[in-house]
Amino acid sequence: MRKVDPEIRVAKDIRELSRMAAREFAERAVEAVDRRGTFAVALSGGSTPESLYDLLADPEETFVDRVSWNNSHFFWGDERHVPPDHPQSNYRMANNRLFSRVSIPKENVHRVQAEDPDADRAAEKYGLAIRDFFRLRNGDWPRFDFILLGLGVDGHTASLFPGTSILHEKKRMVAAEWIEKFESYRISMTPPVLNHAACVAFLVSGDGKADAVREVIRGEFRPDRFPAQLIRPVNGRLIWYLDRAAAARLCA
Ligand code: 6PG
Repeated sequence: MRKVDPEIRVAKDIRELSRMAAREFAERAVEAVDRRGTFAVALSGGSTPESLYDLLADPEETFVDRVSWNNSHFFWGDERHVPPDHPQSNYRMANNRLFSRVSIPKENVHRVQAEDPDADRAAEKYGLAIRDFFRLRNGDWPRFDFILLGLGVDGHTASLFPGTSILHEKKRMVAAEWIEKFESYRISMTPPVLNHAACVAFLVSGDGKADAVREVIRGEFRPDRFPAQLIRPVNGRLIWYLDRAAAARLCA
């Protein structure tokens, strides 16, 4: 299948970046619900999307009224191996910033059961939840309408970290991976799931990410070193939402 070139959109700062991403989120949500009656989205963790989630929930903004929350189903691209009330939990961050502020049926929030002491079992259950939601037959891949991703300074995205075996996963939808530098497991969607989405959007802010942005987008293809290079939707859009600081070395 064809691979499309990434769309690169640069905002002046995190505020404008979040607003651009909120517009994209709302447009994808409206389009999906108009077309299929349902919007299936995978959220990113980390700190960059916090202000995006705040904007989406803000009653003073237009986004909260444009998104059909009852028909929107939320997943995560990855989760830390911690309970949902842990400060490190990606679910907790999204719940504080978004789900606690909008009216959304609890069955529409499909969190990773990362409280399970067995990370592999948590990953397997999450994969089954995705399979059930999309009513997949064996061998089929889910097609999320929108997947939001961040980028680490080391070129990781979701929990696809340099040099880890999940980078080469071709069969499973979700896998658990021990991440040495965190001395902890992470649970992540695998590259094929991310690459079967209709639209994948990176949201990257700050000059600390500028080198990684340049290497991932313009550098030699070395996905074991820069795993975000693996994200190339097979039949979907890839958008990089960058603020000026993160984009600073793109043209260098
Ligand atoms: C996570 C994310 C991870 C994140 C990047 C960027 O669980 O932390 O999925 O991939 O998006 O590490 O994190 P920041 O937005 O905090 O810089």
